[in-house]
Amino acid sequence: MEKLKIIGGKRLEGRVAVSGAKNAALPILFATLLSQAKSRIENIPALADIQTTLKVLSALGLRANFNEDNHFIEVDGEPLHSIEAPYDLVRTMRASVLVLGPLLARRGEAKVSLPGGCAIGARPVDFHLSALEALGAHFIIESGYIHGTAPKGLKGNRMKLPFPSVGATENALMAATLAEGTSIIENAAREPEIIDLAKALRSMGAEIKGEGQSEIIIAGGSSLKGMNHSVAPDRVEAATFLCSGLITEGSVETLGISPDFLTSALDELQLMGAKIERFSNSIRASFQDPLSPISLETAPFPGFPTDMQAQFMALATQARGQSVIRESIFENRFMHVPELCRLGAKIKIQGNVARVDGPSPLTGATVMATDLRASASLIIAGLAAKGETNVRRIYHLDRGYEQIEKKLQNLGASITREFDK
Ligand code: UD1
Repeated sequence: MEKLKIIGGKRLEGRVAVSGAKNAALPILFATLLSQAKSRIENIPALADIQTTLKVLSALGLRANFNEDNHFIEVDGEPLHSIEAPYDLVRTMRASVLVLGPLLARRGEAKVSLPGGCAIGARPVDFHLSALEALGAHFIIESGYIHGTAPKGLKGNRMKLPFPSVGATENALMAATLAEGTSIIENAAREPEIIDLAKALRSMGAEIKGEGQSEIIIAGGSSLKGMNHSVAPDRVEAATFLCSGLITEGSVETLGISPDFLTSALDELQLMGAKIERFSNSIRASFQDPLSPISLETAPFPGFPTDMQAQFMALATQARGQSVIRESIFENRFMHVPELCRLGAKIKIQGNVARVDGPSPLTGATVMATDLRASASLIIAGLAAKGETNVRRIYHLDRGYEQIEKKLQNLGASITREFDK
């Protein structure tokens, strides 16, 4: 196993390129299942979750080739010979459930192990299943697998999601592109990653209107051509670097991302007193004294993203006063709190609300990463902590951040990857 060793207290300064978004790349890769043709996708981040996705595609028979140095993947959709996403892969990455929509649409059958993934709550898939049922699919759960069939093919219909779930919207959208007739997704998720998936599907010939709004309309067809697409930038990675700069009283510019991807997060940073400069394809956040406390609640886009909650909490430890952070998307998403407290943070949890009293001087310690975004918050805190912080179990981090230590080193951080017994 590996760990990250951080010597805190170095001011971060400079520019950092943002990678392609993991959460856009995953559904887009699964969408290649919809076509028999060859697809080419660019700006793919080199991450553990991408490797897992390629293994799922290859377990289904597809041939995929990842040029990691140049960040592109070519997929041949022709040799699809299986409809089963196996347990060993799905348990490491919950997003594997996104094979359901494409496989049902193309083959009329799909089998997916009930998902595992990040330990941030129950995370059921009932909304995915009811949306696909509206298109004519039937599901049974057997031996730990979801088995879906649509012997007569999928038929376009109205799908009303009880909550704007990102994954359920993606499954519904992908399935509807090959369903017969028109489909409407009501109460759809509006995240930038949904917009990117719709763009990718459109490059395959799909007819989609309304992505980015609550109602998406899809005119289904009988086949799709290969995909040609470049993945949108990672807003969560960008926010992580902006918080990293601010906690060290520095100034960091994230390159290759429009401020429109981060509206609510940038508003919060501004409320905290940071100087935010919005350019057409980059964002700079600079520290200004004092850092004020925040009061925020996670919500579906355009609200504040749950995937940035832990990083903002780390930053809030250095604000003057009490910050209040409410997690409304996932239960059990405060696992970073005890570890932040080990570094000296003063945080109290009551239900889904965390109260952070700042500023508290942080001192280096050995801490355990518990999930992907929790790992990022520990790094941010470590950058501000006096002395040496060791973040263990960084395999969580490698699921979602490409070469984070190299990018932070280039900004002036003292952070190294080391072997951990
Ligand atoms: C995606 C992101 C994840 C992000 C989350 C919320 C990917 C690969 N992952 O996850 O990083 O944190 O969006 O922005 O893109 N729910 C149900 N039943 C369902 C589906 C969801 O009850 O069938 C609930 C979940 O338990 C959760 C909420 O809805 O409480 C939101 O989940 P959802 O938007 O579906 O998140 P994911 O797509 O899993």
